[in-house]
Amino acid sequence: MKKQFLDLGKQPIANKFLKEKISNEYFYQLGVAFDTDTCLITQTEYVDPPLMFNDSYVYRGSMSKTMVEHFKNLSKQFINKSILEIGSNDGVFIKNWNPKNVVAVEPCKNFAIETRDLGYTTYPNFWTTELSNTIKEKHGHQDIIFSANCICHIPDLDDTFKAVENLLTDNGVFIFEDPSLAGMINNNSYDQIYDEHPHIFSVIALDNILKRNGLEIIQVENLTVHGGSNRIYAMKIGNGLIDPSVEKNKSYERILGLDKFETFVRFAEKVKQSKEDLLRLLTQCKSENKKVISYGATSKSTTIFNYCGIGTDLIQYITDTTPEKQGKLSPGVHIPIVSPDHAFDESVDYAYLGAWNFIEEIRKKENNYLNQGGKFITHVPVVQVV
Ligand code: TYD
Repeated sequence: MKKQFLDLGKQPIANKFLKEKISNEYFYQLGVAFDTDTCLITQTEYVDPPLMFNDSYVYRGSMSKTMVEHFKNLSKQFINKSILEIGSNDGVFIKNWNPKNVVAVEPCKNFAIETRDLGYTTYPNFWTTELSNTIKEKHGHQDIIFSANCICHIPDLDDTFKAVENLLTDNGVFIFEDPSLAGMINNNSYDQIYDEHPHIFSVIALDNILKRNGLEIIQVENLTVHGGSNRIYAMKIGNGLIDPSVEKNKSYERILGLDKFETFVRFAEKVKQSKEDLLRLLTQCKSENKKVISYGATSKSTTIFNYCGIGTDLIQYITDTTPEKQGKLSPGVHIPIVSPDHAFDESVDYAYLGAWNFIEEIRKKENNYLNQGGKFITHVPVVQVV
């Protein structure tokens, strides 16, 4: 049973950047709940996936050096295995592999065409049991099924895991990584919650849901990407040795109280406080005539700006390196997005870190800005100037 603990208000599609203001922009009510059966943190209602993942999807994994290196390092471990990737995006992971060993699945057709043109067999579909049957017939069972920042995008986890179980070899490994609930709670990063993230995973909840679909977690790796993620290794039940990292992570999560509804009631209070603090800081900057912009037109910042009611009165524009986002307006609050090439300069006093998860990469890159007295604002883990 879902018990709601947080209401993040009316939200637009987080990655739907607009060419111009439109009167019929789609909004939904973003409620967040604890599932008492599995301990899953999940939305009260899900946005229909084709509204988010279609041929105008703009998020590119390859836009960040951190992510390119991250996937290169993982790929080195699995030479000559057959691999299927769920949600292959612009090929940031599979580009490290020989196309003959890879089957890719990507419902955003713009990206599916891109990886197909690079020689990778790419199915332009959503991941379902039906698709896994088709792939099994054509390409056989797979040694590795990989997915990064995608499983938490899929509303129906039972079907997702059944489809994986169906396609894995008996010794096959399902490896997937998504932002971790422990990371979100520790960072107070409630902006991890938006339409594309209908769930935020704890190891406890995942193991509960995987087990009822014939899989179990055999290892957990804690990653620093995206503000704290977990890479989960799962196999068919009984087919792999269970590493101590599984129990270690579960017991840490129990210490954080991730298996208890009350923990999330307290989290909701902290979220409200974060909103008040951010509005206070931005309003103060405005009253001092400071130029405030935002750095990185992220989906996460869509949640923040729409929940807090932050528009062009408080943030003049957003810079982003993604060509597809430039020249557009941010969802819901319609802040213009521009290339940082000319807009991120010494005239900026404060830059709110929409892409706070890349803070180290950004700090290195924007050394000049910082040396000239420019400052960043973040809400992670508390609202502050850094
Ligand atoms: P990310 O935090 O991965 O996204 P989301 O919340 O949407 O899942 O996206 C990072 C965005 O920030 C992406 O649009 C690229 C942009 N970006 C910059 O503009 N400059 C940078 O230096 C970095 C690291 C990212």
